[in-house]
Amino acid sequence: MGFAVNTLEHQWMPFTANRDFKAEPRLLVKGEGMYYWSHRGDKILDGSSGLFCSPCGHARPEIAEAVYQQLQAMDYCAPFQMGHPGAFELAQRLATLTPGDLNRIFFVNSGSEAVDTALKIAYAYHRARGEGQRNRFISRERAYHGVNLGGTALSGLVKNREAFGPGLAGVAHIRHTWLPENRFVKGQPQHGAELADDLQRMVALYGADTIAACFVEPIAGSTGTLVPPHGYLERLREICDQYGILLVFDEVITGFVRTGKAFAGHSFGVVPDMMTLAKALTNGAQPMGAVAVREGIYDTLVDAAPEAAIELFHGYTYSGHPAACAAGLATLEIYERERLFERAANLSAYFLDAVFALQDLPAITDVRGYGMMAGIDIAPDSAGPGKRGYEVQKRLYQAGLHIKFTGDSGIIAPPFIAEHHHIDELVGIVREVVS
Ligand SMILES: Cc1ncc(COP(=O)(O)O)c(C=O)c1O
Repeated sequence: MGFAVNTLEHQWMPFTANRDFKAEPRLLVKGEGMYYWSHRGDKILDGSSGLFCSPCGHARPEIAEAVYQQLQAMDYCAPFQMGHPGAFELAQRLATLTPGDLNRIFFVNSGSEAVDTALKIAYAYHRARGEGQRNRFISRERAYHGVNLGGTALSGLVKNREAFGPGLAGVAHIRHTWLPENRFVKGQPQHGAELADDLQRMVALYGADTIAACFVEPIAGSTGTLVPPHGYLERLREICDQYGILLVFDEVITGFVRTGKAFAGHSFGVVPDMMTLAKALTNGAQPMGAVAVREGIYDTLVDAAPEAAIELFHGYTYSGHPAACAAGLATLEIYERERLFERAANLSAYFLDAVFALQDLPAITDVRGYGMMAGIDIAPDSAGPGKRGYEVQKRLYQAGLHIKFTGDSGIIAPPFIAEHHHIDELVGIVREVVS
């Protein structure tokens, strides 16, 4: 399919330096397997699965075919007071993968919507239990929970908050888990479990009976792969249990085996009360997100409503869109048929060894990693934070590699179909450019 691009001025690009981009555009016109192709015909290795969306590789014909078939059979169906079989089948399939009894699935269209939906479910759940005064939320410094107003309030990244007013009232942030003594540690660091006790301090400060939920990314992804210290998530779980606070894992990046098991909850042995999902749910081929909820939360909310009444006044026009469900089902089939879960788990050691070998480069000030995701920190430029990271990202692109950068941290998370030679190519380009 061709497009006539005569001007770039009309599109206001998201999270992009628009003026800089339009002066030196980076357009992608094709994706296949591990690679993209640029409008100049250059082949670009995908080191971040797009934006952590495409573990099965790009342009999978099985997904395209499933979406095409669905759109021909039925393009759209109103999701309120009506349904279609694909959404129920996908929910059922997802429930077989989720940890514990997180078996009730609410569909949305993005990670940001999943986060805001989880916030609203937390409010409504406590209200249904007669504890409507629980309207405070705990998040963390350096957290990323999407860009809707709820997620912006939870955000722990200054640039994502500063232009957008006071936001949701009642959000407090505990410390992030990056510690200097944990630099260059592969896997879970030893130090820092006690940082979870910040939640206990919030309980002491605000009173447990005002706190609805604690939101964390099990591995903080967008900020550069901050792996939780040993014992940290377990401690958060204990404190939440003690005080009736819901624990929400934002698994928008970590979900679907980025951590070596289906979800980070499995990898770290901690089952949350809710989980937000998106991205790899459809291999990025259709916009879709979901909130997986413990059965008891669903039952409480549903049982509290009068017979034949709507129990949760929330939903999107495109919740469980038929094309997205078809893409989700086709993606889950690929994961299963190609045993990509096992493949990702087996590839992790080679991948992490290769990325950690970059630590001899003087410009790299930290490397972190777990499963199939890693973070590298580049020493900031004197011109200010993020300048050098942006420059490195552009030069990597020119050298044939896509890596997502946040500030001066690069987040490396290749598709699970990667062969060893792709990993070698990836770190080879990073070494050459960063050197
Ligand atoms: C942990 C986390 N939550 C939420 C989001 C927001 O997802 P989306 O961009 O699909 O709205 C992201 C996106 O990167 C994320 O990493």
